[in-house]
Parts: sequence; structure tokens; C-alpha cells
Amino acid sequence: KATVVSGIRPTGYLHLGNYFGAVQNFLRMQEDFNCYFFIADIHSLTTHPTPDNLQAGVKQVLAEYLACGIDPEKSTIFIQSDVPEITELYTILNMNAYLGELERTTSFKDKARKQPENVNAGLLTYPVLMASDILIHKAHFVPVGKDQEQNLEMARKFGKRFNRMYKSEVFPIPKPFTFDGADLIKVPGLDGSGKMGKSEGNAINLFDTEKDIRKKVMRAVTDSGPTEANSEKPEAIQNLFTLMKIVSEPTVIEQFETAYNQCEIRYGDMKKQLAEDIIKVTLPIRERIVDILDDNEYLAKVARMGAEKARESALKTLKEVKELVGFRKLY
Ligand code: TYM
Repeated sequence: KATVVSGIRPTGYLHLGNYFGAVQNFLRMQEDFNCYFFIADIHSLTTHPTPDNLQAGVKQVLAEYLACGIDPEKSTIFIQSDVPEITELYTILNMNAYLGELERTTSFKDKARKQPENVNAGLLTYPVLMASDILIHKAHFVPVGKDQEQNLEMARKFGKRFNRMYKSEVFPIPKPFTFDGADLIKVPGLDGSGKMGKSEGNAINLFDTEKDIRKKVMRAVTDSGPTEANSEKPEAIQNLFTLMKIVSEPTVIEQFETAYNQCEIRYGDMKKQLAEDIIKVTLPIRERIVDILDDNEYLAKVARMGAEKARESALKTLKEVKELVGFRKLY
């Protein structure tokens, strides 16, 4: 069986971007692959959460993974900081990661721009930690959304570089994964431009109530409508259609496409439909999240079981790596 690794930072509720960009693929992959799905709590330290927020975030994502249908009997679900071998590999990989290439990473440049008061070393070496997450389990595939493409490219580079330097094939070179070779997806936000993101303040969360979702969707940015038949859609409108393509029935989408092309579209109706179709996906998940969050014993059991399985796999790889670099025992 091929091995799969992917993770999500516990920095807030999971949103539709996380769900359709990543989790939905996790669900399908766990049937046929050897899967490791984790909560990237070490990565989230780059933004300095309070200890209480961090702990609550980890618990939330764990409950959300389970509520979405990730099955701890089929997949290894674990918390990154429970597997110290990851940070040991990170230290080793850091010695062959160069300042220039790290500084050129788009996500580093973005974050450095957004939080100029906190451009820390962890932010710079973020792709190295991510590479360690992936390489420590010798992953073949990494299901992620479009925004992680470059980080994954770095992981491939660091894996290849290590293999070459130590004349080994210890790391398989991980590939981004989507079903049927589809492109990695980018779920747009509702504020007119760009992607949906926790830090963008434009996210619809799986944990949002029906009322929240209706409110957020009704507030989505639109314009006064097309004035010419079959005209190209401005970005904000295209984003509404993109979301609709993800959650709605093809016949419904077609109806609104036709209305748009004939300049008869009513965005209010479109948003109402979109909100209901989103709720159809999220409401059952929300209900399960609420139940699971109540069951601390179950959450603890899943985390413990996952930590044991993940450490076993991580230790095996780390042993090979240490042997390769020359950390050989004198006693
Ligand atoms: P994070 O926590 O930002 O997001 C988790 C996953 O959700 C996807 N995603 C999206 N996909 C489509 N459209 C969107 N609007 C959208 N927003 C988020 C992300 O692509 C990701 O798959 N660095 C990673 C976490 C990580 C990781 C790893 C992932 C750490 N180590 C190893 C894979 C393998 C991150 O910050 O994702």
C-alpha cells in the first residue's frame, strides 16, 4: 500500500477550503492507502497562540477530523507534537536548506508582509518542518489544496537533496495528490477575491450554525449584474459560481449560468440556494462535532493510539537517517 501524509494547522475551525481542498480527499484515500493525518500544532506556533487557544484548537481539529469521517481504525490520526522524531529530522534537514530558497518561498514572503513584527525563524524554516512531516513516514502522496503546492515542491526538493547527499533512497519523493489527476483545488472566499482562509476572515466553517452560514453567504460580495448577454464574470461572481460548483447539483448550477448569460440573474436567489446547499454538507458534520467534543475519553483514546502508531513509523525512518548521516553509537 502506498503511504499518504497530510496535516492541518489547529488555528481555528475547519472551513470549506480545508474540507473540499483536503479532508474530502483524506476520506476517499483512507480506504486504499496507508494514511497518516495529523494536527500540525508545532507549525501553528509561528503565530504565537496562547497555550489555552492552542489546546482548544487541537481538540477542535481532532473532533472535526473524526466528525468528517476520518476513521481511526483505518487511518493514523495524530498530533504532531506527540511525535518528537519529526523535529529531530527537521533539525537534520535544516542543515541542507538554504536561506535563499527559504526566503523566496511565496508563503514566507506573504507572511513576512502580513506580520512584519513577527518574522521568526520558524516561519522561515516552515517548509523544512513540513518536509519532515512528510518524509518521516516515507509518504508517496500528499493530498493538499492549491495553496500548499509550493511547500510540497520544497519537500520534494529536500527529500531528493538528502537522498543524493547520502547516496541513498531512504525517502520516496512525495507527489501532490488528487483523484483522477484533477488540479489541486482552491476554494474561493466570499469577499470578492482570493482564497477562503482562516486568517482572511472570509471563511465558512464546518462548525458554523445554519444561521451563521445564511448570514455569511447573503453578505457575499456581488455587483449590479451583467448588462450584456454572455459576458465574462467578474472575480466576485465567478467565486460564487465556483462555490456553487462544489456544493450544488449540476442542474441548479446550469439554471443560474443560463440566467447570468441572459442577464436575468438574481444574486439574492443564487445566494439563498448556495447557503442551503452548503448547509446540507455542513449541518450533519456540525452535529457530530458537537457530540464528539463532549467525549474527552474518546478523543484521548484516538490521540494516544495515533501517537503510538505514528511514532513507530517515525522512529524507523529516523534510525535509518541517523545511520546515514553518521550518528553511529560509540557505546
Ligand atoms: P492549512 O492548515 O492552512 O490548511 C489545511 C489544508 O486545507 C487546504 N486549504 C485549502 N484548499 C483549497 N482552498 C482553500 N481555500 C484552502 N484553504 C486551506 C490546504 O491546502 C491544506 O491542505 N502547511 C499546511 C499544514 C501542513 C501539512 C504538512 C500539509 C503541515 N505539514 C504536511 C501536508 C503535509 C497548512 O498550513 O495547511
